[in-house]
Amino acid sequence: MKFSKNTKICKIDDISLDYAKNLILNNELVAFPTETVYGLGAIATSDDAVLKIFNAKGRPQDNPLIVHVHSDYDVSTLVYEDKDYIKKLKDAFLPGPLTMVYKSKGKVSKLVSCGLDTVAIRVPSSKSAQAFLKAVNVPVAAPSANVSKHTSPVTAEHVFNDLNGKLELILDGGKCSGGIESTVIDVTGNEPVILRSGLVTYDMIKSVVGKCRYSKNTSTEKVKSPGVKYSHYLPKCETALFKRNEVEKAISLYNNAVETGKTPYFMADDGMCEFLKGYNLLKLGKTGEEIASNLYYKLLEGEKIADLIIAFDVVTGTDIDVGIMNRLEKACKRC
Ligand code: TXA
Ligand code: MG
Repeated sequence: MKFSKNTKICKIDDISLDYAKNLILNNELVAFPTETVYGLGAIATSDDAVLKIFNAKGRPQDNPLIVHVHSDYDVSTLVYEDKDYIKKLKDAFLPGPLTMVYKSKGKVSKLVSCGLDTVAIRVPSSKSAQAFLKAVNVPVAAPSANVSKHTSPVTAEHVFNDLNGKLELILDGGKCSGGIESTVIDVTGNEPVILRSGLVTYDMIKSVVGKCRYSKNTSTEKVKSPGVKYSHYLPKCETALFKRNEVEKAISLYNNAVETGKTPYFMADDGMCEFLKGYNLLKLGKTGEEIASNLYYKLLEGEKIADLIIAFDVVTGTDIDVGIMNRLEKACKRC
């Protein structure tokens, strides 16, 4: 496959949006910011374009992609919106970090859904994402814009570091505010089923629809969201994850690392960091929202300056902890 030599990074304005539109309509790849993480976008109706996403990322070909549309796009042209609770969810959470998996009408490339009869649709809320999606005015397939298995990108520079030369353009909209990927729910059944946790939480969905459950993902239940079976979010350095009451064990690992000439960093919320004052620290923040927003950013900062990131479980007591811990458990090795 032919890749361009150097990927351009452009601030978002009329000129760069026009350029992005031309690239997308010519089956090329464009990365764009959303309120969660950066996406690696291609026109969703073209096999050629969608295949480029899988190649650029090195993504397994059985892990389906999310289709992104702007807020005025008529989603009913792509999918069957036949459950009553769907309208309630749309009114409450869209545009925003909630992706819904519907029965497909088969209008997008088969490669998007990897052979499933469903398709995931997302209407992002960030101004930059909306500007891009309105400019192109076609459905855009987009996974997170990182090399497969690596930590998801929340700045244009993160995208560049992973994918330079493998796409034409990165639209730079600054740091993503949400910081972890959208919540993915299956809306083909009688109740919404959470396939991937995120900023739109179980409690939020339940309070709007009245019912909701987590996917069991047991070996007896067919894996409904194939992405969950792969490794994800791994930084390029060693990692260790401890429970909050295992500080002594964690400090001893830290000290051993120093003795063998390594540079360890602790990664934890502000409260825990206060307790660890004097050690190398990657501070995640205080509230669940803040911690989610900083998680990938700090992992990617950490992989540059640390040989070993020693993280602690995040317990803010809010529902967002589920999404944060889902990422942290995959990014770091449980000790
Ligand atoms: O916030 C986000 O969702 C970001 C931004 C760019 O929008 N995108 C993102 O895409 O996280 P990706 O490809 O990294 O994750 C997509 C997830 C995977 O777990 C995949 O298995 C699931 O969505 N998914 C996509 N289509 C599906 C389908 N038809 N059925 C079940 N799960 C699906
Ligand atoms: Mg991803």
